[in-house]
Amino acid sequence: MRMYDIIAKKRDKKELTTEEINEFVNGYVKGEIPDYQASALLMAIYLNGMTERETFDLTTVMMRSGDLVDLSPIEGVKVDKHSTGGVGDKTSLIVGPIVAACGVKVAKMSGRGLGHTGGTVDKLESIPGFKTALDRDEFFDVVNKTGISVIGQSGDLAPADKKLYALRDVTATIESIPLIASSIMSKKLAAGADCIVLDVKTGSGAFMKTVEDSVKLAQEMVKLGENAGRRTCALITDMDVPLGRNIGNSLEVIEAVETLKGNGPEDLTHEALYLAANMLEVAGKGDEKECLKMAKEAIDNGSALECLAQMVKAQGGDESVIRDTGNFAKAAFSHEIRSPYEGYIAHMDTEGCGIASMMLGAGRETLDSVIDMAAGIVIEKKTGDHIKRGDLIATLYANDKALFDKAEKKYLDSLKISDGEVKRNPLIYAKVSKEGVQYND
Ligand code: URA
Repeated sequence: MRMYDIIAKKRDKKELTTEEINEFVNGYVKGEIPDYQASALLMAIYLNGMTERETFDLTTVMMRSGDLVDLSPIEGVKVDKHSTGGVGDKTSLIVGPIVAACGVKVAKMSGRGLGHTGGTVDKLESIPGFKTALDRDEFFDVVNKTGISVIGQSGDLAPADKKLYALRDVTATIESIPLIASSIMSKKLAAGADCIVLDVKTGSGAFMKTVEDSVKLAQEMVKLGENAGRRTCALITDMDVPLGRNIGNSLEVIEAVETLKGNGPEDLTHEALYLAANMLEVAGKGDEKECLKMAKEAIDNGSALECLAQMVKAQGGDESVIRDTGNFAKAAFSHEIRSPYEGYIAHMDTEGCGIASMMLGAGRETLDSVIDMAAGIVIEKKTGDHIKRGDLIATLYANDKALFDKAEKKYLDSLKISDGEVKRNPLIYAKVSKEGVQYND
């Protein structure tokens, strides 16, 4: 079939066949289909959607466009976790070690941060000496020895997605549930884990702004995972306020370590425990309640922290910064933001808080920006808190004093203040599994 006819068929709301979807994706990867025709089809998909079968076919052909990681040299069940991205989201650094301490292997490939969201690989690279580029044998070896390894994406995972994502980014076709679901799941399925837990963020710091859309995306992704033979579930979690208190690379590792020591902020600890419990549940360790108990014990008895320290050592990192986070290099300058207002913090534009941190050097504006590992923000007051004029609401950290003014303005502009008390959002809105959607009250 000609590409023209495939575009016309989707434009007219008809279902594409497996062969047509394969022809489009393979032809585009080979450079036989020009950007203008691929863009037209993406826009038709954006406008008219895809059936469950079409989305599965799109995911499968994108997954098969590159390497398929074979994790069989690692003994036991392997579980993966994916977050759709957020501000202050350091949960991978906490849940990976908890799950590994409970006997389920974590062989994880993570990404770098871009824009207002951070990436696990950047955070880990704030640990002196830590190597995120390991070859396959080293990667497997670390997992077999310590139960966990986290590395940067290596090889050529789902190159069709890379090419299509770049095109979606410039053609206003990112925000499409079948396109997002197939993009994320093609990479997750290619990464080879037996089971997957998805953390679908919702709110002002996430690209899904409503719970309803987040649930729809989660349902699509869970179906894709289960239909590919991987136990998959998703939690819908709040990203209408930064998670925890710290934003920025080494600041987030420090907070993750504190959480593994049992001293983490309540929201981060709660969310990490539920994510870890669900990873253990999909890996067959028991029901959610039993797994939650196991996850708590791994924090209480220190075994999860020990797993993180062992992984850091095995990947060439300086384990002493995990044992004592005071050993992390500090930013040269700090700057306190004192409240110019009196009232309750009614809302934090979470994307704005992430951008303020990026402006201090903690994040990347473009793919090749260099990041400052010690830069970032420690938040003292969050949504729902009462503040008086002059109260410390956050501390900024940077290696260049000149960055403080604009970052402070951006941070303050991200806050909405009200006179009356404000209700905090739930942390976890719902769980989506093959059994259906379970909303929390
Ligand atoms: N993240 C992805 O990997 N793909 C999308 O389409 C959106 C977010």
